[in-house]
Amino acid sequence: MSTASIITLDERETARVATELAERLEPGSVVGLQGGLGLGKTVFAKALAAAFGVEETVTSRSYTLVAEYEGRLPFFHADLYRVRSASEVETIGLEEYFDRGGITVVEWCDRVPEVVPPDAVVVSFELNDDGTRRITIEERV
Ligand SMILES: Nc1ncnc2c1ncn2[C@@H]1O[C@H](COP(=O)(O)OP(=O)(O)O)[C@@H](O)[C@H]1O
Ligand SMILES: [Mg+2]
Repeated sequence: MSTASIITLDERETARVATELAERLEPGSVVGLQGGLGLGKTVFAKALAAAFGVEETVTSRSYTLVAEYEGRLPFFHADLYRVRSASEVETIGLEEYFDRGGITVVEWCDRVPEVVPPDAVVVSFELNDDGTRRITIEERV
């Protein structure tokens, strides 16, 4: 397990961290994003999508749980903000996306920890007292 922690001052720096992570992902990678509202999870997800050549705008949604985009690899963006249980996640079939050879990004992965694969990259977002963000990336390498 490797852990790296980075302070970002703005959206652009958060996007750059995502772009660098993208280089280490491969078909089938799952990236879980966790941390409070407004800390940059969707900014990060959008930059990951862009790194995989997704041209369509990745939006923040709470009504569809998983959105599918086309890039160099299939790109799946899930948001579990409103999910309450693992059985609800089973209903949407989240785990089936993991086996499709794409990149799956799961916002609010900590809501349902049991659906996060053991080899997922977990990215945590925290707010520092000075208003900067801390991004911590845990990867199995
Ligand atoms: N260091 C930073 N990294 C990412 N976003 C930041 C940062 N500083 C300020 N912001 C702002 O915070 C907001 C983050 O929103 P978003 O990515 O939708 O959060 P989340 O998906 O975690 O709820 C954006 O409006 C962004 O411009
Ligand atoms: Mg979000």
